[in-house]
Amino acid sequence: MSAYPLTAMRARALSGTADIPGDKSVSHRALIFGAMAVGETVVSGLLEGEDVLDTAKAMQALGAGVTRGEDGKWRIHGVGTGGFSEPEDVIDCGNSGTGCRLIMGAVATHGFATTFTGDASLRSRPMGRILDPLAQFGVRAEGRSGGRLPLTLIGTADPVPVEYTLPMASAQVKSAVLLAGLNAPGQTTVVEPEATRDHTERMLRGFGATVVVDETQGGRVITLIGQPELNPCEIAVPRDPSSAAFPVVAALLVEGSDITVPGVSRNPTRDGLYRTLVEMGADISFENEREEGGEPVADLRVRGSALKGVEVPPERAASMIDEFPILSVAASFAEGRTVMQGVGELRVKESDRIAAMEAGLNANGVQTSSTEDSFTVEGRGGDGVEGGAMVQTHLDHRIAMSFLVMGMAARNAVTIDDARPVATSFPNFTTLMGSLGADFGDGEAV
Ligand code: S3P
Repeated sequence: MSAYPLTAMRARALSGTADIPGDKSVSHRALIFGAMAVGETVVSGLLEGEDVLDTAKAMQALGAGVTRGEDGKWRIHGVGTGGFSEPEDVIDCGNSGTGCRLIMGAVATHGFATTFTGDASLRSRPMGRILDPLAQFGVRAEGRSGGRLPLTLIGTADPVPVEYTLPMASAQVKSAVLLAGLNAPGQTTVVEPEATRDHTERMLRGFGATVVVDETQGGRVITLIGQPELNPCEIAVPRDPSSAAFPVVAALLVEGSDITVPGVSRNPTRDGLYRTLVEMGADISFENEREEGGEPVADLRVRGSALKGVEVPPERAASMIDEFPILSVAASFAEGRTVMQGVGELRVKESDRIAAMEAGLNANGVQTSSTEDSFTVEGRGGDGVEGGAMVQTHLDHRIAMSFLVMGMAARNAVTIDDARPVATSFPNFTTLMGSLGADFGDGEAV
């Protein structure tokens, strides 16, 4: 499909219930761990976005059985730890850094070669951060300059266990090392100076692996005992707080809105945006707090609110790393300045998100400034956001959805140059937002 623009017009008060699709991080992991278990894992609520479907295809290419039943449940016939077989063709991870990096970890301690590629965005992203720790297991890799895709990873049949301290806050790197450690003898240890999303640790335990987490002065020390037999599981995927962020911020910004967003994950390693919005004055209540599928969840009630600018401290960045684009939109409408610190990782996401947000916000009449790892937005408060511009999305789903939300509350419509990337994480985004009252239409041709 070729690029197609989409325009968000100013919306009237939003109302109704937003049923958010399954969590992307949990969905990738459910497929990968299911493929490494012995027997049938059943997954309900799997995110059927392009990123996750690419991971499902990769698991099939590595020898696992993956099917979707008429009941909407996914069934994975795992091959057991160490049981993957050499894929016949290149593994194409599409737009997904998570899929690609986790699968690299999963195949690393198998004695065969796997070649990985992806779309233009993924081919530009750094893979050295995965290849460095995998080299310690005995893995070799040949790729393009800067460790970029396409690359071939030559796995090791004779791995040694590894102790690795993360040089950056990255759940993908942590997870790749733990996945490689699954098929290594002895103990694999990852030290993370800052806590990142912990779905891998939670799910590994659910599949029966021994994972010990120690909170120390130097950070979280995660130890995995290698070569466990993973038992198949029933997994209910919670709804994605990163996707929920878009209707939540839209409801905050469009005056008079009142929406409900049921069953959203409240995992503390993922809730930084929600803490920040509450500090900004957002009217969000967290109702029916409960546990579902091993994750804390709540129903969110969100009402239109006047927001004020805040400082987001660097230690909060990891718990909201995918939410800075939509926070920047919220900050544009807030009274006063919002400063986001410690956000350098945004430069190596699906796009350089600081650059992409600055360009889009400036074009729509919002002033910003940035350094290598900070981003400041000058809120327009009562003056409102002018809008009216065409924004480049750079194959980045979160940039695309953020600017559509901006258009819902700005004085003039906002157009994105390409709406295709939305399908990577939130395939029903436009229909769902339309059901709440959004007015999206064809953009001008680009
Ligand atoms: C993810 C980790 C984060 C996040 C990504 C999903 C995961 O990436 O941005 O969308 O599922 O482990 P980093 O590990 O690069 O921070």
